[in-house]
Order: sequence, then structure tokens, then C-alpha cells
Amino acid sequence: MISGLRKLKIVLTIVGIVAFLGVYFIFDETDFNNHFYNHQQEKIKPKKSTLDKNPRPNGCRLQFKRNHCLQNLQNQIGFKQCGNPACSCFPLEIFEKQTPSYLLGTFPPIMEPMFPIEKELLDVEPLMDIKKTSSAILSHLVLLSSSKIFKVGDIINVRIDVKDGAGRQRTVGADFVQVWMKSDNGPMRASSAEVVDLKNGSYIATLRALWVGDVIIVGALPLTREANAFNFQMGREYRSMNFYVGHFKKEKLNEFTLCSMFSVIPGYKLICNLTEMNYGYGWYCGKPLNGKLTCNDFVFAKDYDYVNIPITPALYKIFIRTDRKIMISSQIQLKIESGRTSQPQPNKIDCTELSRRETWDMIQPTGYFNRTEWENIKCHNHVNQRNFLSCFRNTTLILFGDSTVRQYYTYIRNVSKCNQTTAKWTHWKWYGASHCEVSRYNFSLTWAVQEFPFVEGFKTTEGETNFKPAVVLLNEAPSSGRIVFLIHYYAHFLREHYSLFIDRIRSLKTPIRNALKRNKYIHIAIKSPHVFYFTKCPAQFSIFHGKLYMDILKRELVEFHDKVWFLNIWDMSTAFENYYIHPPNEFVWQNLRLLAGYVCN
Ligand SMILES: *[C@@H]1O[C@H](CO)[C@@H](O)[C@H](O)[C@H]1NC(C)=O
Ligand SMILES: *[C@@H]1O[C@H](CO)[C@@H](O)[C@H](O)[C@H]1NC(C)=O
Ligand SMILES: *[C@@H]1O[C@H](CO)[C@@H](O)[C@H](O)[C@H]1NC(C)=O
Ligand SMILES: *[C@@H]1O[C@H](CO)[C@@H](O)[C@H](O)[C@H]1NC(C)=O
Ligand SMILES: *[C@@H]1O[C@H](CO)[C@@H](O)[C@H](O)[C@H]1NC(C)=O
Ligand SMILES: *[C@@H]1O[C@H](CO)[C@@H](O)[C@H](O)[C@H]1NC(C)=O
Ligand SMILES: *[C@@H]1O[C@H](CO)[C@@H](O)[C@H](O)[C@H]1NC(C)=O
Repeated sequence: MISGLRKLKIVLTIVGIVAFLGVYFIFDETDFNNHFYNHQQEKIKPKKSTLDKNPRPNGCRLQFKRNHCLQNLQNQIGFKQCGNPACSCFPLEIFEKQTPSYLLGTFPPIMEPMFPIEKELLDVEPLMDIKKTSSAILSHLVLLSSSKIFKVGDIINVRIDVKDGAGRQRTVGADFVQVWMKSDNGPMRASSAEVVDLKNGSYIATLRALWVGDVIIVGALPLTREANAFNFQMGREYRSMNFYVGHFKKEKLNEFTLCSMFSVIPGYKLICNLTEMNYGYGWYCGKPLNGKLTCNDFVFAKDYDYVNIPITPALYKIFIRTDRKIMISSQIQLKIESGRTSQPQPNKIDCTELSRRETWDMIQPTGYFNRTEWENIKCHNHVNQRNFLSCFRNTTLILFGDSTVRQYYTYIRNVSKCNQTTAKWTHWKWYGASHCEVSRYNFSLTWAVQEFPFVEGFKTTEGETNFKPAVVLLNEAPSSGRIVFLIHYYAHFLREHYSLFIDRIRSLKTPIRNALKRNKYIHIAIKSPHVFYFTKCPAQFSIFHGKLYMDILKRELVEFHDKVWFLNIWDMSTAFENYYIHPPNEFVWQNLRLLAGYVCN
């Protein structure tokens, strides 16, 4: 018997050789944004400017040298492939050639009801003229008050009038508008605003005066109505713009095929339904053309490339941007004076006393930054670097999710100097479940890695993928002992239709219910999506979908609002102006402090 970990080494070796043969297959970053970081210089440029002859909407493609696939394709597919994934050709050339969605095949219908925002944007015409979409530079923030002096605790209302590129007032909504407030001088303070779309080209932002001093109110317009519309339209037509490359192997026979979370694999008449190996979550690959390889011979899959989607030049211009921190040029300056107190709520309860229901309240601001420290509006958080670990005495902390959750693990491992019992990381972008312990505190910590859609995964000897989903881990959680279980699904779902995210969250319900029943010392927390402005992969759905996920989490998990904590990282990351998908350590610490503040015993 080869153990799971041995097998991991074997697979890594195989991949290592593959990587050596094909330099272009070195994806050595954890998440898809960073995968492509090194290929930044090789951005494709639009060649022609007609509607159907434009490049795909992304600047992050791997640039495999696969031009040969455009000629004599039949002689380069199946077992006649070049032998490594980087140069391998597939039956339908969707990466090099423009591919309208109908060429991919016919998808089963999406059963999930459409979100109102999608309904609103369904018929928006593809943008032809960049001047007709919203312009951050020309938009205005208008203070809805005659006085520029406020007192701590006051509500501050601001209207955002969005203009198009020709300076005309827009008369429709669905732009992604963000507003926040920060200190103008003195120590850093920042908080975000709740923004409501009036659907007529104006938005209302509601802020709160939370500290004394001079402040500025600023806004951003990361994605316009037309960009959001195109994202939803692409999502419905293509379901996912990203395909995985799957490796099928038996003895000396090898074949690479395309894989996806959805059951339509372009060019393949026969597909392998590998759903069972992904613990019941949809997972499919093209069936190898070589008849000697069967679906059972699947060994490994990894992120591959994006479909080359036809796009207008104007939309291309929008999507090629890697920096979505697009600031509205107008700002508002105010003065905040102390009211009866200098604190909005001086007699706050301790965060451990805060009802879990309160953490689901999504009205921003839920807190503010006081220098680098996140102050919760509703409660006082006593956790600091010194007492953090004592919150987890006699506790098993299970952190489930992607590389942003791995950051949590790394952070705690670093501060606790815990003893890692799993394999030593040979790379900081480690993809293996990890575990460590601090005997003095009787504390154990696990990073449990998210299943597909993730960066990669292989089939274990048990016949399932190597990453167990949260539902399996919740079902396996013991009925005694103090357990804190954090769950996060986000970034890797941004390349899949949102119905996939809804299904995943829904699937958590029975296991959460049972785990809470079985063990009264199990505490569950949901880590929300976060805002990030920089992406090398504009072809994934945008952070605007992150906002949608916030609503999905709140709606789907409604029965647990009294029982499970919600970590609102969305609000915190907005106030923080978080730039990268992987936030800096000081932000990671505030996330962990938020968690510890609630669960500390
Ligand atoms: C949108 O409606 C609000 C409230 O009715 C109004 O104050 C605002 O001026 C309108 N904006 C535009 C651009 O018409
Ligand atoms: C910010 O933190 C300092 C302590 O570091 C505290 O004295 C001050 O009251 C805090 N300010 C606000 C507005 O919370
Ligand atoms: C794939 O298999 C699963 C069961 O393992 C099944 O529920 C699903 O409908 C199948 N998908 C397709 C497209 O047939
Ligand atoms: C941890 O567990 C041990 C043994 O059950 C117990 O003696 C101790 O008081 C516990 N510590 C805390 C902080 O709960
Ligand atoms: C460690 O914590 C668990 C609860 O999670 C408790 O059952 C056990 O007795 C503790 N062990 C020690 C040595 O304190
Ligand atoms: C570990 O902590 C030290 C300070 O305690 C810090 O300087 C270092 O950057 C941290 N390393 C990581 C990987 O977070
Ligand atoms: C790690 O293990 C060593 C040897 O068993 C032990 O002395 C040390 O206290 C452990 N460290 C932690 C943080 O648990």
C-alpha cells in the first residue's frame, strides 16, 4: 500500500519532471492570480478591432507556446500529444482561437433562480464605446448636509453621481461603487460606508463619524455597469472561462485532457464524470481519446488556461486593467468633533458576549481601523498578540479553505512556534493539509485545504481527491473536545458560475447542523470574501461577485445566524484598502484577532 503522503511525493515528482520538460508549465504560485505573475510581460495585445476578432478578456494567460495546435490538430491530440501539458493540443482549440460559447457544447440549464442584479444586466449590450460606460474620474461625491462639521456618532450621507466618459450623468445603476472615510492627518483611522444603488445613476453612501479629527471621504468605482453585465453574461454562457488540465496515466501511456467543474468539455464527445471522486461535487474531464486509457486512469489535474472569448475593443480595454483601485476623483473633507464622548459606544460589551446573530449584520461599518487595530463597533475586543494563544487553550483549531486561509495557518504557526506534525513545507505555496501543536496550551492547529475548484488535486489510493471538503471534515469532527472550525470558500469560485458557490454553501447545512448537535463544544465561523484590487486575471469574475457571495452566505446560512459566527472581512478589507488577493500580515492578524475576540474563552 502506498500512503497518501507517499503518493503525494510521487505525483509531485511526476509533475516536477513535466515542469522540467515544459518550462511554461511551472505554475508555482498558490492561487491563480499569482500563477501568472511571471508572465506579466507577455501580455497579449489586441490585434484587430472588430467585434469577433479580438483577444480574450484577460491579461494573465499562461502563454503556452501552443500555436502549433492551430495547424494539423488531428495529428496532435489523444496519445499523439507532445507529451507534456504545456504544449499539448486538445480536440477543440479554445485557447488559441476565439470561441463563442455555442462551440463549447450545450450546458444543462442552470436551475438556480437568477439574482435580481443579473436579471437587470442580462440585456445590456456589449460595450462598443468606452465613453458610454461610467467614468470614475468624472463622477462626483456630494455631501448631503449643509454643514461640514459633525460629532462622533453622527450619520453622514453622501450621494455619488456617476457620469459617463463624456461627462453625462448616468441614468441607470449597477456600477460597483465603494465609499470609505479616513483620517486626513494624524494617525490612520478608516471605516467603510454602506452604499445603496438608487438605480438612476446616483448612489447613496451612509457613513458614521467614529473618531475625532479631520477626515476625507473617498470613493472608488472598480467595475462599471457594463463590465458587471459582461461578467454575468459570460458566466451564464460559458459557466467557467477556466479549464483544468487533467492527467490520465496507465503504465507508459499518458494523455492530457481538459477538465472542468461543469459537464461540458469542449471537443470531447465522451466525458469522464469524476464527481464521485470530488466527494459528490461536480467534476468532469474529457475522456482520453486513447481507448486504452479509461476514466479510472485519472491521476492529477491542475489549473490550465482561459477560453479565448470574443470581446469588443472597449470591453477589452476595461478588462485588461490589472489594477481595479479606480478612484473617483472628487473627495469630501469634513471635521469631526467630540460629542458627549469621543467614542461612538463607550460602554461596549466584550466580544465574547456578543450574540452570534449580531455578527451577521452586514450594514457597514461594522468596525474601523485605529492605526492597524480593527475596532469592532459592537463590542470590545481584548485580544492582543500576548493573550491570543490563551484563547485557544485545550482547543483544536481547524482552518478550512484556500491560500488566504493558509496565511492564517502560517501566521499562527509563526507566532506560536508550534511543532508541525505534517511534512515540512519545501515551498511557501504549499498545497498539503498541515497540522501543528503547542503542547503547553494543549492547542492544535490544522490548515485543511479546499477541494476542487482549487489549484490542483490528485487521486489518492482511496479513489478520492486528496483534499477533503469542509462537509467531510465537519462530519468527521469528534463529539467531544473544544473545536473551532473556520470555513472559507471564495477566490477559486470566482471563475465559476455563482450557482456553484450557492450549491457549495448549501451543502454545508446538514453537516453544520449535525456537528453542532453532536458536540456542544464545536464553534463554527464563516470567513467572508474580501476586497482586493489587483488581479492578473481579469477573466475571472470580479470582486463584484464577492459582494454577491456575501448575500449568498447570509441567505443560505440563515438558520445558523444564532449559532455560527460570521467574520465580515469584506468590510474590514474595504476600510483597509486591501490591494492584493493575499493581504499583508498586519491585516491577517486583524482577521485572526476578530476570530479570537469572538471565540476566546
Ligand atoms: C436619483 O434619485 C434620487 C432620489 O430620488 C435623486 O435625489 C437623484 O438626484 C437622482 N439622480 C439622478 C441622476 O437623477
Ligand atoms: C485608538 O487606540 C488608542 C490606543 O492605542 C486609544 O487610546 C484611542 O482611544 C483609540 N482611538 C479610537 C478612536 O478608538
Ligand atoms: C455525474 O455523476 C453524478 C453522480 O456521481 C450525478 O449526480 C451527475 O448527474 C452526473 N453528471 C452528469 C452530467 O451526468
Ligand atoms: C484544559 O484541560 C485540562 C484537562 O481537562 C484542565 O485541567 C484545564 O483546566 C483546561 N484548561 C482550560 C483553560 O480550560
Ligand atoms: C486537551 O484539551 C481537550 C479538549 O479539547 C481535553 O479533553 C484534554 O483533556 C486536554 N488535555 C490536557 C492534557 O489538558
Ligand atoms: C514571523 O514573525 C516575525 C516577528 O515575530 C516576523 O518578523 C516575520 O516576518 C514573520 N514571518 C512570517 C512568515 O510571517
Ligand atoms: C515541540 O516539541 C518539543 C519536543 O517534543 C518540545 O520540547 C516543545 O515544547 C514543543 N514546542 C511546542 C511549541 O509545543
